[in-house]
Amino acid sequence: MSKLKIETGSSPAEERFSITVTEKGPFLVYGRPPLAEQFIMPNEQNESWYFQEGRRFSTEAEPTALCRCGASKRKPYCDGSHETAAWDPRLTAPDESLLDKAETVEGGTLTMTDNPKYCVFARFCHPGGDAWTLTERSADPEARQLAIREASMCPGGRLTAWDRKTGSPYEFRFAPSLGLIEDVTIGSSGGLWIRGGIPLRREDGHTYEIRNRVVACRCGQSANKPYCDGTHAAIKWRDNLEGEPVGETLPEEVY
Ligand code: SF4
Ligand code: FES
Repeated sequence: MSKLKIETGSSPAEERFSITVTEKGPFLVYGRPPLAEQFIMPNEQNESWYFQEGRRFSTEAEPTALCRCGASKRKPYCDGSHETAAWDPRLTAPDESLLDKAETVEGGTLTMTDNPKYCVFARFCHPGGDAWTLTERSADPEARQLAIREASMCPGGRLTAWDRKTGSPYEFRFAPSLGLIEDVTIGSSGGLWIRGGIPLRREDGHTYEIRNRVVACRCGQSANKPYCDGTHAAIKWRDNLEGEPVGETLPEEVY
């Protein structure tokens, strides 16, 4: 069996937490992590700015089966629809580290790594002239702070900001938890946001690289399963959970 990979800047969650991606069906969630809708909330310019919690869902069942094909009528839970739905369940994502194929952008005080394969089209990198330009301008403290925020907010982990002097990455401190991404601005629901180092496993025992933040596909249409590749936005997929952004906003404490 291959050695367990842990992304730099991520720590594995306690052992009780894990998610098994079944070959032709749902995600099986172990350890009872909190599960709630996470709404992408805009700023005054209608750009993605922060996350706010919506409806919460139980993960008391061990395991809790969450829909991965996009067709369940009991979302976020599995109702067996994957057996008849039109979807390709194959797990085609390569077994690689996120940083293996990442490009780097250098600026005055920051480096930003960028692996576009993990973009989930949440658009937190757009405000203020975009995260790439802000990194290049990171000798300016304001640009630096915004670049760190935007890279750390990137839910899929495509972007990471690193301090050039210490070589350390900036990451938000996430407890092991799950989010059902809702993108009201574009009228679509998104993937399953897996935070805080919860390992994602295949049924054959392979464990994907452990990450502080990564998004798995729950619309059934990603070409990079188990990860989300942003296809939900192109097809305007909806989970119809009918929650509202009424809960806590996501804390933004970086370490
Ligand atoms: S997932 Fe990351 S890279 Fe993609 S749009 Fe969102 S913030 Fe930008
Ligand atoms: S949920 Fe994003 S591609 Fe399926």
